[in-house]
Amino acid sequence: MSCSIIYKQAFRLFGLFLSLSTAQTPDLVPYANPMGLSQDLTSWLAVTNDSQANICKVRMFNNINIPEAAIGTVIASQSRKDPDYAYNWVRDAAFTMDSVYDFYTAASNPLAQSAYEAILFQYAQARASEQNDRNTAAGLGEPRFYLNNSVFTRPWGRPQNDGPAESATTLMEFANAYLDNNGSVETVRQHIYDSNTYPAQAPVQRDLLYVATNWSSPSFDLWEEESSDHFFNRIVSHRPLRMGATFAVRLSDSDTSILFATAANAIGATLSNFWDSERQLIVYELGPVLVNKASYKDIAVILGVLHGYAEDGMFSYTNDQVLASAFQISTSFLAVYPIAKVTTDSAGLILGIPVGRYPDDVYNGTDTEPNGGNPWFLATATMAEMFYHAAYDFQSTGNITVSATSLPFWTYFAPTALLSAGSTYHKDSLEFQAAILALEGWADAFMRRIKFHFPADGRLAEEYNRIDGVNTGATDLTWSYASVLKAAFARAKLMNNESYVTDLANLGF
Ligand SMILES: *[C@@H]1O[C@H](CO)[C@@H](O)[C@H](O)[C@H]1NC(C)=O
Ligand SMILES: *[C@@H]1O[C@H](CO)[C@@H](O)[C@H](O)[C@H]1NC(C)=O
Ligand SMILES: *[C@@H]1O[C@H](CO)[C@@H](O)[C@H](O)[C@H]1NC(C)=O
Ligand SMILES: *[C@@H]1O[C@H](CO)[C@@H](O)[C@H](O)[C@H]1NC(C)=O
Ligand SMILES: *[C@@H]1O[C@H](CO)[C@@H](O)[C@H](O)[C@H]1NC(C)=O
Ligand SMILES: *[C@@H]1O[C@H](CO)[C@@H](O)[C@H](O)[C@H]1NC(C)=O
Ligand SMILES: *[C@@H]1O[C@H](CO)[C@@H](O)[C@H](O)[C@H]1NC(C)=O
Repeated sequence: MSCSIIYKQAFRLFGLFLSLSTAQTPDLVPYANPMGLSQDLTSWLAVTNDSQANICKVRMFNNINIPEAAIGTVIASQSRKDPDYAYNWVRDAAFTMDSVYDFYTAASNPLAQSAYEAILFQYAQARASEQNDRNTAAGLGEPRFYLNNSVFTRPWGRPQNDGPAESATTLMEFANAYLDNNGSVETVRQHIYDSNTYPAQAPVQRDLLYVATNWSSPSFDLWEEESSDHFFNRIVSHRPLRMGATFAVRLSDSDTSILFATAANAIGATLSNFWDSERQLIVYELGPVLVNKASYKDIAVILGVLHGYAEDGMFSYTNDQVLASAFQISTSFLAVYPIAKVTTDSAGLILGIPVGRYPDDVYNGTDTEPNGGNPWFLATATMAEMFYHAAYDFQSTGNITVSATSLPFWTYFAPTALLSAGSTYHKDSLEFQAAILALEGWADAFMRRIKFHFPADGRLAEEYNRIDGVNTGATDLTWSYASVLKAAFARAKLMNNESYVTDLANLGF
């Protein structure tokens, strides 16, 4: 989806070191020390008809298969003017269908399960139709389709090569779950995987081959602003190739499996290039760099980890460089959004930092203006989800090792834990427990920020205003709903509540 309509001119920087702006964020004092998971959010996200979690679910599904659209498509938002988001974006559809997959795999009611399954097969068919559109200028890198699912042909930022990767990830997750449920391998071959034999209906192999051969080519970013080499694109391309190497074997396609594994290794070897030790930051792109985006900070880095972490230990939720970047990116918004000064809700509970795309953003939801950027719901949910996952993973590992790289993260978000660089804290230590409570507290605080600005009519927009927190930009943004649901699922996992997603998936059937 979304975004800046105007492509800004780029200039090339031959190496990040040429930019002389200073690296480190000066020592920041946290404005609060939230600790532990809170009941107010458990209630807000409860599995009841009128809870916010169910409102997000119902409204997300309202934007799938809308009556006037081609089957298997997702309308990015119900906003048709200022801005007009009534399109089927490849990225938004893949992320939305990723949440449908979560419901599919969790549902225990057979009616619910088959309803989600049907949508996911429709989605696979819609993706194959996009691949076969004869009017594409950027092949599989076309980012945006009309609601009838024919390609949007007017000037736009193309290619956007993350789309094929995200679609393949979602469809392989689905296919694996379908096969685990005793679905037929032949059905998966015909309707999901084998593009060579079934080019009209099976998109995954074709998308993966495209990613495997095009991942190093310049591409526009997820905000559709700059053609460059992006960390987000790299990491979301790495995961499906890693998954694809295993999945192809499951589909008895071992030659292609080797090709996917080779490409995954090649991408994996480049991810560390994005770490800028001077800035202590994973930079969002290597170059060319968007003019006036001198901070090098973008929530896309953390969003990339959420969608691209391949469960292989590389750039995980608990990775020091990811933690350092999460700290720098999130705190960069404190100085730019006046609404950040509102730090508690009416009950006195702590609100997390309002998080937008990047601190130097000028897109205000319809157009660009100086200091126009706003916090976004999906960006704020990204921080919440990452913190829930990090708390879960540290507990699974059983220890936290702090380095000089991760220390600023811990000092800001977990000051009471008094962690120091070079130490490892085991699960039974007071320091470890305080650190986990702090991650939980901040995760819920980010969610409470969303709750605080959630509009009374339940229609979540893309953004909330930087000054007064009022919903702004595209209304009923599908990706906003999907991202709040994803964060809620990560929260339930942290609480060891396996029935949560199942109950929400079954609700209404
Ligand atoms: C829940 O919502 C559905 C559909 O919106 C409605 O039919 C049902 O009566 C509601 N149930 C309760 C308990 O409110
Ligand atoms: C799809 O919709 C667009 C926009 O409304 C229209 O221009 C195009 O002709 C339609 N394509 C087909 C194949 O109907
Ligand atoms: C799949 O089939 C096997 C063998 O018939 C059976 O044991 C298993 O319970 C089935 N699994 C599911 C999820 O239906
Ligand atoms: C993708 O890779 C293929 C095969 O190498 C190449 O022909 C095509 O031009 C590439 N497309 C883009 C957009 O880079
Ligand atoms: C966004 O910026 C444009 C151009 O400056 C302005 O006309 C519009 O009112 C702004 N929109 C909002 C919601 O602030
Ligand atoms: C931390 O936990 C992991 C996983 O249990 C273990 O492999 C590692 O050795 C531990 N590190 C230290 C320093 O104890
Ligand atoms: C898990 O979530 C479900 C659905 O909200 C709820 O009914 C249940 O009480 C929760 N279980 C625990 C152990 O918190």
